[in-house]
Amino acid sequence: MRRRTIQYLVLLFIAAVATHLYFFASTGPPTDPSLGWDWPDESEEALNPVPKRILSADTKKRDAVVASFQYAWSAYERDAMGSDEYHPISHSGTNLSHSGGIGYTIVDAIDTMLLMGLDAEYARAREWVSTSLSFDRDGRTRCFNTFETTIRVLGGLLSAFHLSADKLYLHHAVELADRILPAFDTPSGLPLSSVNLETRVGIPDQWNPATISTAEATTLQLEFRDLAHWTKNATYWHKAEKVMAVVDAARLPSNLAPISMNVNDGSFSQSEIRLGSRGDSYYEYLLKQYLQTDRKEPVYLKMYEDAMQGIHDHLVQKTATRKHTYIAELVPKGVDWRTTWDLQHKQDHLVCFLAGSLMLGATTAGARTPGAAVSVPPRMGELSETGQRDWKTGVALLEGCMETHKTATGLSPEIVQFQQAAEQPNRDWHIKGSRPGGPATYDARYMLRPETIESLFLAWRLTGDARYRAYSWGIFEAIERHARLPAGGYATVVDVDTVPVKHDDKQETFYLSETLKYLYLTFADEDKLPLDKYVFNTEAHPLPIFRPDIQPLFTI
Ligand SMILES: *[C@@H]1O[C@H](CO)[C@@H](O)[C@H](O)[C@H]1NC(C)=O
Ligand SMILES: *[C@@H]1O[C@H](CO)[C@@H](O)[C@H](O)[C@H]1NC(C)=O
Repeated sequence: MRRRTIQYLVLLFIAAVATHLYFFASTGPPTDPSLGWDWPDESEEALNPVPKRILSADTKKRDAVVASFQYAWSAYERDAMGSDEYHPISHSGTNLSHSGGIGYTIVDAIDTMLLMGLDAEYARAREWVSTSLSFDRDGRTRCFNTFETTIRVLGGLLSAFHLSADKLYLHHAVELADRILPAFDTPSGLPLSSVNLETRVGIPDQWNPATISTAEATTLQLEFRDLAHWTKNATYWHKAEKVMAVVDAARLPSNLAPISMNVNDGSFSQSEIRLGSRGDSYYEYLLKQYLQTDRKEPVYLKMYEDAMQGIHDHLVQKTATRKHTYIAELVPKGVDWRTTWDLQHKQDHLVCFLAGSLMLGATTAGARTPGAAVSVPPRMGELSETGQRDWKTGVALLEGCMETHKTATGLSPEIVQFQQAAEQPNRDWHIKGSRPGGPATYDARYMLRPETIESLFLAWRLTGDARYRAYSWGIFEAIERHARLPAGGYATVVDVDTVPVKHDDKQETFYLSETLKYLYLTFADEDKLPLDKYVFNTEAHPLPIFRPDIQPLFTI
């Protein structure tokens, strides 16, 4: 009886607070129909609290995604087992280095097999790792990019370790990390862009020896911090963390990060600001570093909040005719380039990661009560002012990204250009460099990228809105129709706006690690990798959230 009474009083209190928030919060439910989002009526929900919704599997669609993974993997295994990259049209493999492979495809795919319960495939992949994986490979030709090797191979090994508890993967991860670490031996502590794994020396960029791309320098931290935590070795932590201190010290007034940095003095180089290539995952990892250590490092929250403010101040745009939200770029101008910029209305497919990231950020960093869990879908009163802003931008950007799928294939191109006046009847953007009736450009490709699918997964988990599953399924069907090869495997589509399609002879490793994993998770039960227990690295390798024992050196 006592418990009941207390529960009743608590409910009354919650109802009163919620009603108060509903009527007095400065920002109510949005009225802009272009957001396409129906906010639940908060006062009503609070009076009749619903139990937390469990998002259950759509088994038919989930199993279709698993079948797609098996189709892609079995073709690789048949034609190229052990090679780093797979060319499904010529039925061949290639290695990054002339001296042998580093498990680029296999290690990238292992955690997806574990997740999908593909025991037979997994057993063969593990066997390959235990008997054939070696990092004693010559990389003097700059074939081992510091960032790509870290996110795909180190990240893949760490996730395989976490999902299997098999120390084999952790041992390989330590060995690989030790071979990558020399890349950080620069005057500033920013890493060099490549590394020779055999000789253990960092290698400068070929054309701009002092340059590292910002995203490459700042998208190593989840992996090295995870390794440090599980091996209890602070060296890995502090090498990666130092980079964040250098980037923070180099801040521009806008709080946005140009895409190039100087490894000698740690400053930003004169270069574009964009959320696409070379910029994207800097922003992604600000939030995820904060989440990875269970919100115990406010320094990343501050950097993330400042950056999201900068994005809203300078980059968020809407098209004039249809009000589609997109993220523009800034091109630096002249001697005052740190403060003087031209806006460019170009958006890489990569930018679509930001939609889900903003929604994830809104429900964590943007919770009105720090550390509190918010509802699914979130109620406005649970989010701070900036949380509400980020949520709305994320929802709208995801719709904008879906607009870029309105092509002949249903697949979105690598780069789009938004336009202020509608040139075409059904869309207010075109593929970069293309003109109606002209030849396809390089940016018309779809290379099996995951970013929209990744955001749809996050949107589904954070809202339970069936619309997001429907969008994902539509993209999956377009991939099956246009990227699947009759003789096995999947390949890059050369022009998303021309059917029948032509293919490029490449099945990217991230199709197995990211695209199919996020599709699988969208149709699986939500207890598979819950968002309050894992962060995903930028290659979709899940890493557990933990409380740090290692003392961070970079703090507020
Ligand atoms: C790539 O390297 C792996 C491992 O050393 C080897 O098994 C495979 O045959 C190589 N592939 C090619 C195309 O040389
Ligand atoms: C931690 O890792 C670094 C880099 O590999 C190594 O030099 C050092 O000996 C390790 N420390 C411990 C305590 O194992």
